[in-house]
Amino acid sequence: MTVLDGKESSNRIKDRLASEVAEIKAAGGKIPHLAAILVGEDGASQTYVNAKVKACERCGFKSSLMRFSSDISEAEVLGEIQKLNEDPDVDGFIVQLPLPKHIDELKVTLAVDPNKDVDGFHPENVGRMSIGLDTFIPATPYGIMQLLAEYDVPTEGKNCVVMGRSNIVGTPMSILMSRNTKPGNSTVTMVHSRTQNVKEICREADILIVALGKAEMVDSSYVKDGAVIVDVGITRLPDQSKKSGFRLAGDVLYSDVAEKCSFITPVPGGVGPMTIVGLMMNTLKASKRHSA
Ligand code: GUN
Repeated sequence: MTVLDGKESSNRIKDRLASEVAEIKAAGGKIPHLAAILVGEDGASQTYVNAKVKACERCGFKSSLMRFSSDISEAEVLGEIQKLNEDPDVDGFIVQLPLPKHIDELKVTLAVDPNKDVDGFHPENVGRMSIGLDTFIPATPYGIMQLLAEYDVPTEGKNCVVMGRSNIVGTPMSILMSRNTKPGNSTVTMVHSRTQNVKEICREADILIVALGKAEMVDSSYVKDGAVIVDVGITRLPDQSKKSGFRLAGDVLYSDVAEKCSFITPVPGGVGPMTIVGLMMNTLKASKRHSA
């Protein structure tokens, strides 16, 4: 069994991005600039956004974090998005999700200029991805594709089962794995909350990508011998033995599944750091597009 070490791979890729930015800088070019809007005090969202800001520093990017209290109105958020759309120094930006209930996430997604949409959530970019055009690929699926590439995981002709159909992970992941690319070229099945015989379908998977948000739900009874397991889940479970008061759990019961697999991502240190790399790669791409 090989651990798909997202931390190590992400560090390697960030080094490559940093040297590219150093070259751009030396040639007098513009430094990539990522902005992030964070609304409210959600602990996990704060952690993710802080990690994104730190990754910008590591890659030599400029970053701007804009924080707002959870009672900001929808109109005000849309106004902030408009300002970022119009700011020539900002190459790309994200609005960290989830947002408070009174703010419509679809309206927010539609308000982002597709050319600055480094999350790849705008329907224009989703559509471009689905027909294989140059675009911003959503960061988590993009990071997973990079991780599979880093380890040269065989995907062509394999049965790939994606658990979960979210717009952010499950749906784009299933599209990317089915396309004529390397990695990719898999035969993809997506399972979701209404699927019958989920376990039987998963047991046929050569590659199982789990994005359910249900801590430790997938045990070895879902897994074929020699399967590749990609665990996208990251849930905070209460744990009084930890200083933080919680531990991080994936959607996969790692201790039960690991020995059955050919490759597996750990949680933390698997998909999470690769997601951030996906965002950094999109930001550099946005910056190059704007400089071209
Ligand atoms: N919340 C969870 N994942 C993501 C992501 O990739 N981008 C944004 N903006 N919010 C998220």
